[in-house]
Amino acid sequence: MLVTLRREARPIEIYSNLSAEEIAERIERARQQLGKRLVILGHHYQRDDVIRHADLRGDSFKLSALAAERSADYIVFCGVHFMAESADILSKPHQIAILPDLAAGCSMADMASIDQVEVAWEELESIGISSVMPITYMNSTAAIKAFCGERGGAVCTSSNARGVFKWAFTQCEKILFLPDEHLGRNTAYSLGIPLDEMIVWNPRLELGGNSPDKLRQAKVILWKGFCSVHARFRPQHVDMMRKQHPGINILVHPECCWEVVSKADYVGSTEYIIKMVSQSAAGTAWAIGTEVNLVNRLKNEHPDKFVTLLAPDLCMCSTMFRIAPQNLLWALENLCEGVVVNQISVAPETAHWARVALNRMLSIN
Ligand code: 13P
Ligand code: SF4
Repeated sequence: MLVTLRREARPIEIYSNLSAEEIAERIERARQQLGKRLVILGHHYQRDDVIRHADLRGDSFKLSALAAERSADYIVFCGVHFMAESADILSKPHQIAILPDLAAGCSMADMASIDQVEVAWEELESIGISSVMPITYMNSTAAIKAFCGERGGAVCTSSNARGVFKWAFTQCEKILFLPDEHLGRNTAYSLGIPLDEMIVWNPRLELGGNSPDKLRQAKVILWKGFCSVHARFRPQHVDMMRKQHPGINILVHPECCWEVVSKADYVGSTEYIIKMVSQSAAGTAWAIGTEVNLVNRLKNEHPDKFVTLLAPDLCMCSTMFRIAPQNLLWALENLCEGVVVNQISVAPETAHWARVALNRMLSIN
């Protein structure tokens, strides 16, 4: 009789006292052993001691497109939960998406639950609003992406939000944008929609805290959610920076509030921010409103330029930071022994409709 032994996962605790050098060496050894069966994706906000092991780096948009293209058996995602979910949704049936720490979530994504969104939709219908397109930022749960896909809507990222909004307005009169109030407002404003044609939906209040008339008039309904990192940048930081460093370029991410974005010189996704600094002339100065790990990396990679964080306080994404080298090594050494840990797997029905919304996004751009 053939007996199949199921291997136990190695416990994560055995990795806690290893030196940084040993961890880095063993990660590289495991990568070599797994070869083409493995691809490690790293978001630009990951810490240096993790991102150095990534096969591919990118912002949310680039990584979702790369995840869809790759054929490795294991996609180890050094990023946050919604990114690994998207990788699972876009991957082929034989591929397995892994998040090295399951507690690497996103506080913004947590600000919109599927139950709240369903209630909002019913309330809009109850006051006769039916020509509305749900668009969700990539930073949302698979259930919300599926909600949008099933109702003709799409996903967007900070790289392509303008294109997705333009497309949405060819289909519908109104957008319900989830879950980032600021990206929604900044995108709509950049397309010429005045601020008074946008309204904020607070999921804790009936009709989002709005009157039926105001909701009928609004062109964009903005979900009341925000990124706890980008919300730290304030307009006075821009004023202070310009005073201290006359001529400095202010470059910010569109998750910053409108008051900051409207004072900045340039606004764009993390990939855009990297391109702007990399392509600029030596001697130029940049104050950047985005996650600190990326800003520090840009500072180190461009010693011929002055690069600084826009705010004086630490703007770090604590959930991205949860992916430590120990977690990555733990996931890889288990894979070397044929054990999959921390698989991210989206239920088939949800994955189907979320894929519709993600593929709509990928086909718009
Ligand atoms: P992008 O990767 O789209 O720039 O978004 C930044 C972010 O906050 C990721 O969580
Ligand atoms: Fe979420 Fe903001 Fe962290 Fe991105 S940077 S994962 S939006 S909390």
